Amino acid sequence: MLAEHRLHPSDLILPLFVCAGQGCEEPIPALPGVYRWTVDRIGAQAKAAAALGIPCVALFPNTPANLRSERGEEALNPDNLICQAVKAVKNACPEIGVLTDVALDPYTAHGHDGLVDQHGCVLNDETTAMLVEQALVQAEAGADIVAPSDMMDGRVGAIRRALEDAGRCDTAIMAYAAKYASAFYGPFRDAVGSRGLLKGDKRGYQMDPANAAEALREVALDVAEGADMVMVKPGLPYLDVVAAVKREFRLPVFAYQVSGEYAMIEHAAAAGAGERDALILETLLAFKRAGATGILTYHALDAARLIDG
Ligand code: PBG
Repeated sequence: MLAEHRLHPSDLILPLFVCAGQGCEEPIPALPGVYRWTVDRIGAQAKAAAALGIPCVALFPNTPANLRSERGEEALNPDNLICQAVKAVKNACPEIGVLTDVALDPYTAHGHDGLVDQHGCVLNDETTAMLVEQALVQAEAGADIVAPSDMMDGRVGAIRRALEDAGRCDTAIMAYAAKYASAFYGPFRDAVGSRGLLKGDKRGYQMDPANAAEALREVALDVAEGADMVMVKPGLPYLDVVAAVKREFRLPVFAYQVSGEYAMIEHAAAAGAGERDALILETLLAFKRAGATGILTYHALDAARLIDG
């Protein structure tokens, strides 16, 4: 009766990994209980999510090694894995929202989110031009929300203008606005196959975990450039940032409970350090308390079932 916050399945976004091939799912050892699905199986996952009241899925490809390249051109292929998956989800389950990640890391041979120069430095403006094309290709395939996760400066405005020019004024932008250079992304890089490829780290474009005021400046830029909603990432270690963004901007703020956070809960529960279902629900509720509009979580299906039950 006195609870100030409540978790609901409509608060959740389910990330799904896609792989090449047919009729199979690949377990991801670093993410126990999470799979990569072939395109023919991804629709059923979206349907399961929708049946539980989850409003949106976020799709990530594991691009076959032979299609990765220095410049990540496969990102612009209108028939790449992600575009096929968007269409498969929309066919199987037209009512669910589809969010796609805009960044080059699943496509580049070096695992960076952008184009790199001969010294391995990421090139902001050249990358942005490619991200614009990538976002258009994804929107064309049917993505409802494009989510630039690359942290280049100026990409939200460039993508918004290009979407408008293409007549896609209904495609929304969820900006990964405050994305930290975090140690919690390891299992995700396994899942999309970029872990072993990554040369160096992403500190040149992702944020310093020491900074909070900078997150507000990053959000302000993305909002001014036309972001419809923003994201803070990782989740639990950055709830102060979620709360500050909500307070300052009063627009939808999403938090990404990332792969390393998921793995921590799974391993803690497996080791008997805590009760799995309770850990899932308590951590997700913490996001609501901090002011998050919604949460991207690999526990979305389990959480929705637990809330319903
Ligand atoms: C890539 C991207 C990453 C995640 C989402 N999009 C990894 C990274 O920046 O290296 C991480 C998600 C997770 O760890 O669950 N642009």
